[in-house]
Amino acid sequence: MNDRASPLLEPFRIGALELRNRVVMAPMSRYFCPDGMPTEAVAAYYERRARHGVGLIITEGTYIDHPSAASYEGVPRFHGAGLDGWAMVRERVHAAGGRIFPQLWHTGSFRRPGDGPDPTVPAFGPSENLNEYAKTTEPTKAMTEADIAAVIDAYAQAAADAQRLGFDGVELHGAHGYLIDEFLWARTNRRSDRYGGDLVARTRFGVEVVTAIRRRVGPDFPISLRFSQWKQQDYTARLAETPDDLQRLLEPFADAGVSLFHASTRRYWEPAFEGSPLTLAGWAKRVTGRPALAVGSVGLDQAGLRSAAPASIDALEACLDREEFDLIAVGRALLADPHWLEKVRNGRWSEALGYDKALLDQLY
Ligand SMILES: Cc1cc2nc3c(=O)[nH]c(=O)nc-3n(C[C@H](O)[C@H](O)[C@H](O)COP(=O)(O)O)c2cc1C
Repeated sequence: MNDRASPLLEPFRIGALELRNRVVMAPMSRYFCPDGMPTEAVAAYYERRARHGVGLIITEGTYIDHPSAASYEGVPRFHGAGLDGWAMVRERVHAAGGRIFPQLWHTGSFRRPGDGPDPTVPAFGPSENLNEYAKTTEPTKAMTEADIAAVIDAYAQAAADAQRLGFDGVELHGAHGYLIDEFLWARTNRRSDRYGGDLVARTRFGVEVVTAIRRRVGPDFPISLRFSQWKQQDYTARLAETPDDLQRLLEPFADAGVSLFHASTRRYWEPAFEGSPLTLAGWAKRVTGRPALAVGSVGLDQAGLRSAAPASIDALEACLDREEFDLIAVGRALLADPHWLEKVRNGRWSEALGYDKALLDQLY
């Protein structure tokens, strides 16, 4: 990799936000926040990636303030006392020269009976009886209009809090089969009211979330939308069968004020639709005209276990050079090696570590 010429190292603007380079830390849940509180260890973990050059950090998913939002233990909350921890994380990342968005999360029907903070609160989703997907025997509660309004408010409050605490933007977790995505997917959204129906009608819930956030944070605060074809429940699922579908899906979000589309794929280079080599991030940029962020197996071999050959970075640079997408998120390679970007930049690629699931718990 030629240091000066690398498009990975070029700055990029999202509205008024200037990023020092194109490398983004992908959102990754690490479950190390007791009682939902980001601790000193969490601040040090993100600060380390910022200090070693990552342009933008998207945090692990963090719960919005609604009793139905939470599912897994150890996930940070973006409300109440959790905000004190997040203020510290934000400060430390900025002091290290980085930028940071919290990833706002509602887990939808993944919530299990007995999950906190109030174990009597059921899973919420667009429709009931989603248990075949959520792998629980308890039915999901089909959200009423009042539930929808309360959850939208919780998203908007979290974004307003992020702005007040000095975060550089927010990301909505609209992917992988969680709440916003459950509304988008026909198999989990069986509603017959205005929140269900065809693809555009199914965007209504997510679009109302974006609209409510935009109203609270004003025109300039970046909002990223993470979306995916695949679901945790079904890796082969697809929201959009064609580029036209993708346009119908994403345009309402762009109109509502999404600043960045984060196309979550398992391998960033794979063509999204037959008949064209364009990736999902590439299509998102093309159909919306907004900046796009790609992700999936950067720096890893095909099995996602070892450090990939340096040539793989050339292919990534070529995508940035031709402006197919604008930013690239790196997940497991950055977990394994906080120095990953420095090593790539300095040609010390052979020293970059591969990803080893067994070591995950030690990789903070
Ligand atoms: C340990 C771990 C936790 C993850 N947690 C989240 C999460 O909280 N939110 C999310 O949107 N994606 C999550 N992901 C998916 C990553 O953001 C990313 O899309 C995926 O790891 C592919 O990128 P990679 O190949 O560079 O690792 C997680 C991935 C891993 C490995």
